Amino acid sequence: MFRAGILTVSDKGWLGERQDRSGEVIREIFSGAGICIANYDIVPDEKNIIADRLIEWVDEDKLDIIITTGGTGLGPRDVTPEATLSVVDRVAPGFAEVMRSESLKKTPHAMLSRAVSGIRGTCLIANLPGSPKAARECLESILPALPHAVETLSGQGGDCAAVEETLQ
Ligand code: MTE
Repeated sequence: MFRAGILTVSDKGWLGERQDRSGEVIREIFSGAGICIANYDIVPDEKNIIADRLIEWVDEDKLDIIITTGGTGLGPRDVTPEATLSVVDRVAPGFAEVMRSESLKKTPHAMLSRAVSGIRGTCLIANLPGSPKAARECLESILPALPHAVETLSGQGGDCAAVEETLQ
């Protein structure tokens, strides 16, 4: 079992003015998939604060995967992608690509999300949009690939062909 973190990025959530329903959705999906939620926090839409929390969770807490929700749009305060890109060693665009392409089947507004995904050390970091509906749709689209992603990151990738066969 791998260890995950949920980082909600929202000025209103951080001020206690809005319930963190997207964080709850992610928690529910992870729990249903048997994924251990080791860390959870709400931070404001501030690039340095987001980046510091991501670094702490990877470098000190050694999480395997961090899912952020919120702050991916075009608004002036939306800086989650920039914070994420400032801390990753390598981009892993497939996750964000799949989320956007699957989301576009549901709403044209999916193209407004600038979500990115990448790797810091052996941790996968992926941004989700902020609405509970969007968070669910996006996380469900990448969920099937997460176990093999974490396995590969930890150097225990095993046989990719065998994994492919189990997904057929
Ligand atoms: N993706 C999915 N699957 N479903 C949605 O309803 N909403 C979009 C988009 N992605 C949406 C979605 C909208 S309206 C916005 S503004 C962007 O995500 C960015 O959201 P954020 O700023 O809350 O991260």
